[in-house]
Amino acid sequence: MLYLAMKFAAFIALASSFIVPSVYGWGANGHMTVGFVAMEFLAPNALSFVQKTLGATYNESLGPAATWADDVRSEAAFSWSAPFHFVDAEDNPPTSCSVSETRDCGNGKCILTAIANYTTRVVSKSLSAEQIQEALKFIDHFVGDIGQPLHVEALEVGGNDISAKCNGASTNLHATWDTGMINVLLKANYQNSVNVWADTLVTRIKTGEYKSLAADWISCSSTTEPLSKRSIEEDVAGFLDTRAAITPLECPLVWATESNAFDCSFVFSFTSGEDLCTSSYFTGAVPIIETQIAKQGFRLAAWLNVLFDGATNLP
Ligand SMILES: *[C@@H]1O[C@H](CO)[C@@H](O)[C@H](O)[C@H]1NC(C)=O
Ligand SMILES: *[C@@H]1O[C@H](CO)[C@@H](O)[C@H](O)[C@H]1NC(C)=O
Ligand SMILES: [Zn+2]
Repeated sequence: MLYLAMKFAAFIALASSFIVPSVYGWGANGHMTVGFVAMEFLAPNALSFVQKTLGATYNESLGPAATWADDVRSEAAFSWSAPFHFVDAEDNPPTSCSVSETRDCGNGKCILTAIANYTTRVVSKSLSAEQIQEALKFIDHFVGDIGQPLHVEALEVGGNDISAKCNGASTNLHATWDTGMINVLLKANYQNSVNVWADTLVTRIKTGEYKSLAADWISCSSTTEPLSKRSIEEDVAGFLDTRAAITPLECPLVWATESNAFDCSFVFSFTSGEDLCTSSYFTGAVPIIETQIAKQGFRLAAWLNVLFDGATNLP
């Protein structure tokens, strides 16, 4: 009976994976890599909070915990969380790109308000251990998703309605960014291992090509759109002081604006019929994907460090 029920559940899961469009954000590999990168930059209090809160279920790590929000979003009990994975920027790529919280955050439910909500909740003294863990897993996930250019784009349902080819397979543009190109990259360069990929990105941040950029990544001023000169410290402190649950944060808006800018500079620049995972499009996308994953991992650590150690505390 149990076996049959499990078979049935597996069938439903398989069937729905064909029916439901993939609007899930970086796939599991991208999300885990963001989490593993963040683990290498946590300050002492943030690290012990993460370890204690996630526990053995997640091997005390933001890596394995980063995919939970996608695992549950298709469950009826968590359907309310689906709009939190993206913000539907009503801009006009590739001609003009922009994100506006008032224009784009549908009924106040989008990734921007979700990061604010779970930032308040993760440091709450009155919520249950389960609610705190939920808040941490959502932050872990949404700080990843906000770096995916098509999670910050309304056009064609964030590219879900644009057919695409990846490594010979028929898919859509959104899924190609979530998983298709990452899987090809992992096999080609990183022994198909998210740990090897994460370690490489960490080394680039500590001593390599990202070292000179990292301070800028957490300044909340963007090279493409200098919306704000606030530091993460100022952003989070101002927000938590007022305790206004859904006051807009500035840093996540800067991050969203930066991802969304790629929708004008690159994401839609393919030719019809091009295989996005084997052509020059892939070569052009890889540096964007790798930078966005590294950046969001670094930012996730900075965010938690500010919350639990009072400063970004990063090299
Ligand atoms: C759990 O984490 C430890 C320390 O970070 C690591 O060495 C180990 O490989 C991880 N185990 C699994 C199953 O991922
Ligand atoms: C904040 O988080 C709680 C718990 O997950 C959720 O029930 C609520 O809908 C969220 N509120 C907003 C405005 O996102
Ligand atoms: Zn997601």
